Amino acid sequence: MAFTAKTLDIISSYSIDEQLHIYKKARKLKEAFDNNDEKTLDLFRSNDKNIGIYEVFLEDSTRTKESFRNAIEFHRIQEKIFDVQSSSFNKKESYADTFNMLTGYHNKIFIVRSKLEGVCTWLARNGENYANRNNLPVPLFINAGDGKHEHPTQELLDQFTLLEANKRDRWHIHIALIGDLLHGRTIHSKIDGLRIYKKVMIDLIAPTLLELPQKYRDKMIEYWYELRFFNSIDEYLTQQSIAPSRYFTRLQIERMGEQILQQETRLRYAITFRKDHLDKIDQNNTKFYHPLPRHKIYPEIPSFLDNTPLNGWENQSRNGMLVRIILLGIMTEVPYIINDFDGETVIEPTYKESRIQEIIPDNSTPKQYSSGVNPIQNGIVIDHIYKWTDIALIKKQMTKIVSILWLYSKWGERISNSSTGENKGIIFRPDFVLDRLQIKKLAALAPWCTLNEINNSSVSKKLKLSMPPKLYDFELLSCKNPDCISHNSHEEHVISEFVKTHDTLFECIYCGFQHQYAEVWDD
Ligand code: NCD
Repeated sequence: MAFTAKTLDIISSYSIDEQLHIYKKARKLKEAFDNNDEKTLDLFRSNDKNIGIYEVFLEDSTRTKESFRNAIEFHRIQEKIFDVQSSSFNKKESYADTFNMLTGYHNKIFIVRSKLEGVCTWLARNGENYANRNNLPVPLFINAGDGKHEHPTQELLDQFTLLEANKRDRWHIHIALIGDLLHGRTIHSKIDGLRIYKKVMIDLIAPTLLELPQKYRDKMIEYWYELRFFNSIDEYLTQQSIAPSRYFTRLQIERMGEQILQQETRLRYAITFRKDHLDKIDQNNTKFYHPLPRHKIYPEIPSFLDNTPLNGWENQSRNGMLVRIILLGIMTEVPYIINDFDGETVIEPTYKESRIQEIIPDNSTPKQYSSGVNPIQNGIVIDHIYKWTDIALIKKQMTKIVSILWLYSKWGERISNSSTGENKGIIFRPDFVLDRLQIKKLAALAPWCTLNEINNSSVSKKLKLSMPPKLYDFELLSCKNPDCISHNSHEEHVISEFVKTHDTLFECIYCGFQHQYAEVWDD
């Protein structure tokens, strides 16, 4: 089975087998470069003059942009650099319109860096629709870093480098991640990237203000990684078990708020390696890595270390071009790179519809629902709408149910209290019925409610609804991460969509930001 070309928006868009295939091919390519083996190098080249590759960098870059540029040149493909400064982005053109236009000119691959998170996930979805509408090949997107979210191609080169150092042993890795773990997208991609190892031990070294967000920690616990936490390099070096691989990241000043910036000096001190640390590490069995750039005035890895065996970051950055050549080879379907893939690919999860359970109504002692004044003869009663303590929140959600399902009526709603402090809402609607689509929407709006259909004054059908695995197709849904491509403030007209990750936790499909169920709804 050949490796199928596909968008790389997050590292786990590619399965573990696919990632390992990239590392295997990159190793072969490196050997060919080292031996000046032109014949083998040629096997890796695309040479397809008809494929257009665009680099669209809306944030600064040296290594990622230039290594891609060199990789494109290696393949002898047309390279196009999008001029962001003089583009219609300045005239408030949307991402979707801009990239659709470039797709329309028969370009196939887009390498995109932006401060907006989830941008490639959105562009891939949008681009597929555009291509189908216009009978064009579906464009592919490579995320070259999106805000503080992910940096999957950096992850590919990091894992390739770590595997080299580990002599390709995937049994166990012990690595320290140091620096701005809060904003560092190269760190965030590591959580999934490190899954190529059977046993993973991670030491997280960061002051509290820069600590790794909870959602990544939860994920690592789910993956059974062993975690340890330290506030500074000083604290780390007071104990014995020091990781042989140490991955430094810089302070992402451009993404920091005032509160963090005020403490810049203290934060830098905590994550910077100093001369007096040297005698506490085994220099011959430790390697330092860094996605680079390092700050020329305050480098986390000072330049006095350049000429020591600790220097792993130079080889790491050279590896960048290699894995990017392989990635572009996959996307342009170079037979030598894709044909001998032998493994599993990512299986897209299928989401079942929300469960609707029919309960046999107990008519032995028939329950008479009343709308407050008159008994209901025919109609519906939506009962058990939430069991929340916050009455205002329940009211807000009930207003949404009425407006979205068009249940406008002079008849009432009620909120009843219970001794436990939990409240629930009830909506009575004589002479109304709900069709299947409305019932599905009701499940999303009021999971766990019961829907009673009343016929001739008795309950003829009782349905118990449950939380759907996906929330979508409602205008009143929106991601609350201000950096997400789908956030309302960016006016990109991205329809929000969420998938359930735990009981009441929903993740934005674009940026991965986690929300409690009630948070996804707008007023
Ligand atoms: C990183 C990036 O831009 O995310 N650098 C890189 O791509 N080599 C890290 C950084 O800027 O700190």
